Amino acid sequence: DFSKGINGFDKVILRESRGSSAEVYLYGGHVTSWKNDHGEELLFLSSKAAFKPPKAIRGGIPICFPQFGSHGTLDQHGFARNRIWAVENDPPPFPTNTLNKAFVDLILNPSEEDTKIWPHSFEFRLRVALGPGGDLMLTSRIRNTNSDGKPFSFTFAYHTYFSVSDISEVRVEGLETLDYLDNLQNKERFTEQGDALTFESEVDKIYLSTPTKIAIIDHEKKRTFVLRKDGLPDAVVWNPWDKKAKAMADFGDDEYKHMLCVEAAAIEKTITLKPGEEWKGRLELSAVPSSYCSGQ
Ligand code: BG6
Repeated sequence: DFSKGINGFDKVILRESRGSSAEVYLYGGHVTSWKNDHGEELLFLSSKAAFKPPKAIRGGIPICFPQFGSHGTLDQHGFARNRIWAVENDPPPFPTNTLNKAFVDLILNPSEEDTKIWPHSFEFRLRVALGPGGDLMLTSRIRNTNSDGKPFSFTFAYHTYFSVSDISEVRVEGLETLDYLDNLQNKERFTEQGDALTFESEVDKIYLSTPTKIAIIDHEKKRTFVLRKDGLPDAVVWNPWDKKAKAMADFGDDEYKHMLCVEAAAIEKTITLKPGEEWKGRLELSAVPSSYCSGQ
C-alpha cells in the first residue's frame, strides 16, 4: 500500500495476514512503525520527530550510511537517512525467501550533490519484509558501481529505536563480557563486566564482535525483542537520558524512559568494496512474550 505520510512524504505500508504491519518512509528508506498482530507499536518514534529534511526522522530505524556517527569526515551518521529513496519494482534477486512475506524493495543512488561529499557511485538496495509471525526483516545490499576502478570504504548501522515500557526495567542479553568503545569517553576501549546490561544513566557504546543474537527484555511489558543479524559484527547501545534528551529539539524531555537503541552495525572494521563487489547486511527482529524466551 502506498500513501502519503506526515508532511506529505510518501510511505509504504506492509500488512501481513495475521494483522502485523510496518510502515516505511521513502524519506531515509526509514521504517517508522512496526506493529504486532495485536496492533501494538514495537518501535519508538518521538512525538517531536520533525519529518523535515535534512533532519533524519527521530525514531524507527534510520539507516546510517556511508558513515556511522562521527567516525569519518561526513556529517553525523552519513546521508542515506536524509535522502529520498525510490521503490524498485524488479530488483536483481535477493538472497532472502519472500514466500508468505509482505515486502518492499527500495533503492538509493547517489545524486551529483552526494558525489561531491562522497566521491563514489553506488547502488544501495534495501528490502523491508514482514514475515507471517510478524517478524521484521531488513536486508541491505550495497554495490560499488564506480567506473574509475576505485574501491570505497564505509561504516553502517541499522539505528533501531525499540519501544520499551520503562528503561529502568529493561535488560539486554548477549553483550556481557564484550569489548566496547565508549562514545562518552573519547571512544576509548573497555571490557563489559559481569551480567546482562541494565540502564540507570546515559549510555553510548559500540560493542565489538558481538554474537549474531541479542535480546532486549522488557520486564514490565513481559516482552522480549530478539535481534538477529548477519554481516554486522558490532552493536551500538544508546540512550540519551535526561540531559541530552532536553538538548534535542526533536525528542521529548521524558521520552528517553520509553526507548532504547540497539543498533546492528559494522563500525570498527570498515567495509571495503572494489568496483562490482556487493556487501550484504541483514537484520531480523522479532517480539515475543518474555515467558516464551526464558531459559534460552
Ligand atoms: C547513536 C550514537 O547511534 O546515535 C550517538 O552513538 C548519537 O552518539 C545518537 O547521539 C543519535 O544521533 P543523531 O544524529 O540521530 O542525533
